[in-house]
Amino acid sequence: MNIGESFGNRLDIFKHYTLICPKCEISYKPDPYLFTCTKCGELLDAILNTREVNYKIHSCKGIWKFKELLPRVSEVITLCEGNTPLIKLVHSIGKNTYVKFEGLNPTGSFKDRGMTVGVSIAKSIGSKFVIVASTGNTAASAAAYCARAGIKCIVVLPKGGVAKGKLAQAILHDAIIFEVEGSFDKALEYVITEITNEKFRGSIYPLNSFNVWRLEGQKTIAFEIFEEIGVPDNVIVPVGNAGNIYAIWKGFKELKDLGIIDKIPRMIGVQAEGAAPLANAWKLGLNKPIFIDKPNTIASAIRIGKPVNWFRAWRAVKYSNGLFVTVNDQEILNAQKKLAKEGLAVEPASASTLAGFEKLIQEKIIDKDEKTVLIATGHGLKDPDVIQLHKLDLLRVNSLREFENIIMKLLNSS
Ligand SMILES: Cc1ncc(COP(=O)(O)O)c(C=O)c1O
Ligand SMILES: [Zn+2]
Repeated sequence: MNIGESFGNRLDIFKHYTLICPKCEISYKPDPYLFTCTKCGELLDAILNTREVNYKIHSCKGIWKFKELLPRVSEVITLCEGNTPLIKLVHSIGKNTYVKFEGLNPTGSFKDRGMTVGVSIAKSIGSKFVIVASTGNTAASAAAYCARAGIKCIVVLPKGGVAKGKLAQAILHDAIIFEVEGSFDKALEYVITEITNEKFRGSIYPLNSFNVWRLEGQKTIAFEIFEEIGVPDNVIVPVGNAGNIYAIWKGFKELKDLGIIDKIPRMIGVQAEGAAPLANAWKLGLNKPIFIDKPNTIASAIRIGKPVNWFRAWRAVKYSNGLFVTVNDQEILNAQKKLAKEGLAVEPASASTLAGFEKLIQEKIIDKDEKTVLIATGHGLKDPDVIQLHKLDLLRVNSLREFENIIMKLLNSS
């Protein structure tokens, strides 16, 4: 039996979708617990039946204004996520470079767009528990949305691999926190093994990005960019588990399938040098990633060696004539500082987009004045330890007189 059948008409949630295997092209009836093809094991695509929906924008706040193109949940769990600013850079390279500042979502990252959809589904199908593996932001977001929904949230984290701000959020929202030895990939293995365990199936809802419904929420980044500046030439995205780049591409593709736009931006995925299973393979002209056992980078959000959504991301990049690029940790730190000088505090993974953009301009792969959107996925305050690696100039004074003298010097030297 299709597990979803036990949810009866709750499956109306997905009635405007078909699940299709991108490898064998078998189609399946949507089901909240069906993620992979039963024949080949590949993650299924949720194809929106564009002939059955309209691109109609509702007046509600956040991503649910695009609800025509999202799962039709019976209860929406929202914190008014989405509607993030698209900010044109003024000091950095390029006349047409924008930052989509996802750090301004309710928990400080783009994960909230997916989590509002995922937790609403969990609530609508009566789940009592949600489970996620996380490099931190997914945990923070899941914990907050589950708190709001009255659902218990289990998070599995790589021990010592999560930025302080993110861990603090998971603690504050009362998540049940497990730490495992190893990287994010090990944490995800725990989650996947448990949710495929018959004992737990149906009672715990998994909300990692292999869950395609979460990605449906994330695709609204594309809709918001389109609403504001039309279709850009390039969209540059940090790639970890590789769900978000696919989600954004899917959003643009749906606009094209709906006849609203006639081109899709070039999707460019950035990985850190020590955690670049996709970018390394791309450079070598291979057609699948070179998985890494011990991923290593300062950007903990993308410290992932075996991205579960790799085939999704690969297609997004390939079908949009894009590419993958690597940047090193020093380049990430430099870019974080440059964005800070624009007034934008972003976390290291997000800063990798500017570093990647600069590299591709230098290599003459893209022109600096092309309309380019950098997806700044998370807020800088998430990772205070990395910020402390930047030059710290704390001036100490012992008297008012000394204070005045220093101020005078500053004024004279400006
Ligand atoms: C700030 C930030 N940027 C980028 C990513 C990578 O996104 P994805 O795993 O969808 O590639 C993550 C994922 O945790 C993240 O938290
Ligand atoms: Zn298949």
